[in-house]
Amino acid sequence: MTKITVVEVAPRDGWQSVREQIPTETKLALIRRMFAAGIVRMQIGSFVSPKAIPQMADIAQVVEAVLAEYPDKRPFVLVPNFKGAQRAAAAGLKEFTTVISVSEQHNLANVNCTVSDSLEQFARMRQEFPDLRISADLATSFGCPFAGETPLARLLEIVDAVVARGADSVTLCDTIGVAHPLQVAAYVQAVRHDFPQLPLAIHIHDTRNMGMLNTYTAIQNGVYEVETALGGLGGCPFAPGASGNTATEDLVYLLQRSGYQTDIDFPALLAAAKEMHALVPGNYSGHQININACAQEANC
Ligand code: COA
Ligand code: ZN
Repeated sequence: MTKITVVEVAPRDGWQSVREQIPTETKLALIRRMFAAGIVRMQIGSFVSPKAIPQMADIAQVVEAVLAEYPDKRPFVLVPNFKGAQRAAAAGLKEFTTVISVSEQHNLANVNCTVSDSLEQFARMRQEFPDLRISADLATSFGCPFAGETPLARLLEIVDAVVARGADSVTLCDTIGVAHPLQVAAYVQAVRHDFPQLPLAIHIHDTRNMGMLNTYTAIQNGVYEVETALGGLGGCPFAPGASGNTATEDLVYLLQRSGYQTDIDFPALLAAAKEMHALVPGNYSGHQININACAQEANC
């Protein structure tokens, strides 16, 4: 059975755009529910400027609690710059991901610097923290709200730049959900062809109901790690038109029914999604989390 690692990103991508402050204890309760459902790898927030994203002001407390409680899981965070990397390392994390946009315009809107500045900061992080796992989230890998469709050559150039600077893995992010299956297949194949040893993940937003199709297309083209958000909550506050992520529970349902190994307890995941709906107001793209679909089936 082929194993797919489902990486939960709701605590970062989902909660970052929720305006009302979610109490730290509520965040921890939801993180516990997701770990209890079998999630192993989880992006539990971001070390960003609290002026840019006030929701992440309590990230240090969240990290401290999660590290103490889950020594065997793989929590990680997103950092936008070198300062964020320092904060992540000081918090005791063994792993973080940094975000760099393939599009110059989106990088400026998101992290207020040029792509070349972001790459320089990435190189500094790598030098300063040689023992940590550092991955690169490539925002706007397929399309940008400002620049339009991302040329494949430009994506390959940025993948090359982060690999040359020592990225341990790369995630292709469809930040505003404009990719389509033909494009995902072509871009994934090209990256895998040029960087056959590179661990590659995918992160898809669901603007036109393409989220599941695109994620599944990536899997069928050899991607074994996928980022999704519980309930389909998500979206970059600095990308006009950004929609929710592909919903974790929808993807897990598809994978389990298609013969992939996920190690996730689907009924427990649905229960976690319901709890998040109840506790966190937001824009969810997931489907039917209010029914107990397949909850009776122990091994579904
Ligand atoms: N964590 C906490 N504070 C940070 C920080 C970080 N990673 N990086 C910078 N800061 C602080 C600085 O210390 C400074 O504080 P001060 O005003 O009290 O002196 C202030 O933020 C401005 O610093 P500067 O380096 O000039 O940053 P900026 O204003 O150009 O903003 C970012 C750049 C990257 C910090 C900001 O745009 C950001 O956090 N963006 C988040 C992007 C994001 O998460 N997008 C969604 C996910 S893809
Ligand atoms: Zn995202």
